[in-house]
Amino acid sequence: MGHPILIDTDPGQDDALAILLALAAPEKLDVRGIIAVAGNVPLPLTQKNARRLVDLAGRDDVPVYAGCSRPMVRDLITAENVHGRTGVDGYDWPKTKTPLQDQHGVDFIIDTLMAADEGEITLCTLGPLTNIAMALVKAPQCARGIGEIVMMGGGFFEGGNTTPAAEFNILVDPHAAHVVFNSALPLTLMPLDVTHKALATAYRIGDMAALGNETGRACAGMLSYFNRHDVEKYGSEGAPLHDPCVIAYLLKPELFDGKKVPVQIEISSGLTLGMTVMDWWGTTAEDPNCMVMNQIDADGYFDLLTAHLGRLP
Ligand code: BDR
Ligand code: CA
Repeated sequence: MGHPILIDTDPGQDDALAILLALAAPEKLDVRGIIAVAGNVPLPLTQKNARRLVDLAGRDDVPVYAGCSRPMVRDLITAENVHGRTGVDGYDWPKTKTPLQDQHGVDFIIDTLMAADEGEITLCTLGPLTNIAMALVKAPQCARGIGEIVMMGGGFFEGGNTTPAAEFNILVDPHAAHVVFNSALPLTLMPLDVTHKALATAYRIGDMAALGNETGRACAGMLSYFNRHDVEKYGSEGAPLHDPCVIAYLLKPELFDGKKVPVQIEISSGLTLGMTVMDWWGTTAEDPNCMVMNQIDADGYFDLLTAHLGRLP
């Protein structure tokens, strides 16, 4: 049986590939549930997209929940300019079959953690941290069930991708991020410093298309759409494939390298709101609170991803 994880997500094409990667590795990862959050697109779409992915993977045994529809303090900002109107543009999705669970996603997180052994569950976060912070605020005692939180978000040497200082997931809900980064829980971060080295080039997308299964076709379609925005923005060979880094780290941690450093979230400045301020060079006496990755074996990452996508229908 695989290691128990919860996936908190705002699909998003890159979230989609992360979810599919996790669902394709049942011997290593036991996906106990997927919780949608508002982010790339509003919640009614992110929860629907999560159900579409469970359908595509043939894994309707994995329950999907809707969490928070807006950040804790700020108004929601979305990213249709990157992800398209649905959030997962680029593939012609069939009618969704997997139902949405009735329970609120935050309550599902709390109940799952409360029922778990100490440190049993790994939380994988692919979007704004609203649901996780809300669970920690509503039921602080649920933290004992968490072994680690592995997150995509932030950036330091690469700066931001939504403002000069802030990455999208952190900027959408900086207050939630502040709660999580001050939780004293074991944290691992996949920032832009890693994901900007993991480019979905035409060659790599071609490998997915060549798998010959529906999942490969869907992923190639989504990434081709996703690429049109980022290739123009960055002048790179392909879009950074952010979110699957979180799942790839659980499957093959040796693909990544980094350093444990103090990280804090800027929540008061207008100019740098949502910045992940990292004391990379030890200029303060703060204790390190987060393992921050900044290196990736990009070929190994795409090989792992594509091989797993090939296992799905
Ligand atoms: C993050 O923001 C979203 O647009 C992506 O899905 C990813 O989680 C990258 O900044
Ligand atoms: Ca995401």
